[in-house]
Amino acid sequence: MTKLQIPSPVRKWTALKLEYLDYYLQAYVIATKQSREKHYIDAFAGCGDCSIIETGYQIEGSPWRALSTIPSFTQYYFVEKEEDLASHLRVKIFEKDLTHAHVYTGDCNEVIPRLILPKIPKNVPSFTFLDPPGVQINWQTVRSLASHRTNMKMELLILYPYDMAIARLFPIALKNPAVYNTLTRFYGNEKWIEELEDSLEAEETAKQRRERFIQLYLNNLKDLGYCHVEPYGPLYSGHRPLYYVIFASDHAIGAKIMRDVWGKTRFIPGELGYKPVRRPQV
Ligand SMILES: C[S@@+](CC[C@H](N)C(=O)[O-])C[C@H]1O[C@@H](n2cnc3c(N)ncnc32)[C@H](O)[C@@H]1O
Repeated sequence: MTKLQIPSPVRKWTALKLEYLDYYLQAYVIATKQSREKHYIDAFAGCGDCSIIETGYQIEGSPWRALSTIPSFTQYYFVEKEEDLASHLRVKIFEKDLTHAHVYTGDCNEVIPRLILPKIPKNVPSFTFLDPPGVQINWQTVRSLASHRTNMKMELLILYPYDMAIARLFPIALKNPAVYNTLTRFYGNEKWIEELEDSLEAEETAKQRRERFIQLYLNNLKDLGYCHVEPYGPLYSGHRPLYYVIFASDHAIGAKIMRDVWGKTRFIPGELGYKPVRRPQV
């Protein structure tokens, strides 16, 4: 087995996604300042430390972005499947004495409903970042997150890995039942295969198929009852689209903030226009 690298080597497009996340989370904690509690889940946390492959710049991963907000969230829940990565994050959190941050080793599809959701009050703002490397999120997990709160649905930011994973899996899924089942778990039912068959029959272009499958996921989120479901992206590697980021929220203000955050050109450390997120003075 290859040893996982720490810090995690990431490409520019990952660093860029982290900048958008960072700006949004800082705005989120300010917008929810009046709430007595707010909770943050990172379902695919990684080890917390990244290094940009193209430049060697060390940057913070999603856990430290979330932990840096001012004011902070009340409690943080980080899930990471790989023990080495989870324990690196756990040790650093322990060294900094961050008793409101909890690291779980395991599959987020099991850990979130079984261990995390029971700890989160049902009537306070909560936000989950789902940043999978592929199609690891089961629709059942999205559903359990969405339905956790009583008055509103939990806010979600989901990486939708269309070109980097889903489109590549389609031809394999047609022959391989395990991959077929993974996609069915990802979408929650077999509507995806009907869509794929329709797309193949209509001889759609890659662009038309991408739009069809983004729409499918957006519709699934809308069917859960979300008032605002908005895709951002695609983020590119050179000229190749890789993934979208999808925001789901019941808050008009949250949706507006997200639009503002994504409406601006962002830069990453090492680039000329880079500006770190501004935090309030304490
Ligand atoms: C793209 S990385 C996320 C990095 C992190 N969000 C960041 O930006 O710093 C995806 C991580 O998810 C982990 N992972 C993969 N499948 C998982 C699962 N089912 N549950 C929890 N973690 C998983 C991988 O080991 C990897 O560290």
